[in-house]
Amino acid sequence: MARIGTDIGEAQQILQRGGLVAIPTETVYGLAANALNPEAVARIFEAKKRPSFDPLIVHISGIDRLSSIAMEVPAIADKLARAFWPGPLTILLPKRDLIPDIVTSGMPDVAVRVPNNTLTLSLLRSLPFPLVAPSANPFGYISPTRAQHVMDQLEDKVDYILDGGPSEVGLESTIVGFPDGTPTIYRMGGLEINSIEAVIGETHVMPHSASNPKAPGMLKSHYAPHTPFRLMEEELQADSNAGYLTFSTELNVPRERLRILSPAGDLREAAKNLFGYMRELDSLGLEYIFAETVPDRGLGKAINDRLRRAAAGS
Ligand code: TXA
Ligand code: MG
Repeated sequence: MARIGTDIGEAQQILQRGGLVAIPTETVYGLAANALNPEAVARIFEAKKRPSFDPLIVHISGIDRLSSIAMEVPAIADKLARAFWPGPLTILLPKRDLIPDIVTSGMPDVAVRVPNNTLTLSLLRSLPFPLVAPSANPFGYISPTRAQHVMDQLEDKVDYILDGGPSEVGLESTIVGFPDGTPTIYRMGGLEINSIEAVIGETHVMPHSASNPKAPGMLKSHYAPHTPFRLMEEELQADSNAGYLTFSTELNVPRERLRILSPAGDLREAAKNLFGYMRELDSLGLEYIFAETVPDRGLGKAINDRLRRAAAGS
């Protein structure tokens, strides 16, 4: 059984001998292993029951380590990294041979980011290797935003859970790549597209694909709770066996079955609460969860993306 704690030394030792440690990040908790050790990386795929075609993000302590991972860093990628790291941005770049093929599922590009969490940054600085870290949830389920979420689902699969408190952003990183030099958003996430475009100009947003996706986190069904999850298209019908997830709307249903993402209508607060509230409602054993979409601007785009995919997956 895993233990939860804040001991970086212990996390470091486990990682050094090829074990798995859950790490806090500002987006969601990750399930980390030594990125340069293929056996350790294989354990992650096993623990998450993740298909081997779904590549992992490499986490580094700072932009100074980027050139050891990526073969070349185009000026535009460098600009983004300088603007937003540490932070919720993942960049796809041609990988160096040092990165094992299992990390990128055999693809020529590696996904890299610098997470913005004090504990995890100290851990990364103390290690002589980078860490791969997918979200610390079974494949297809809701990402964890607290140490306890990881414990609830992966307690026998992870050696140690580093507790950095609740994730501040609450949505996975935004993924950007540069196919043929065109800045392309592969996954909407915790960094708003507007912020990216303010630095590098217009981007192309990839639609989700149902098969053979470049980023399976883009699969149409993902992030799904076990309880059937439906988007509320019309007026709510109060149903005694349903839970409700709203943006800021008050509903006349028992408190226990209602979660309001942000009573003040703040998209940041909504993002931070999203996955935790989905988990809480999912644990009530209800017949349905009905969810209201949020305003489709800024972080709202990424929130709606997660809601739609949760609905598609259940
Ligand atoms: O915020 C995050 O990105 C979190 C925290 C823990 O850092 N990590 C995360 O990892 O969300 P994961 O594995 O749940 O999602 C990573 C996504 C997947 O959809 C994967 O397909 C895509 O990144 N990805 C990783 N490497 C890639 C590559 N080389 N090319 C294309 N997509 C890649
Ligand atoms: Mg994930």
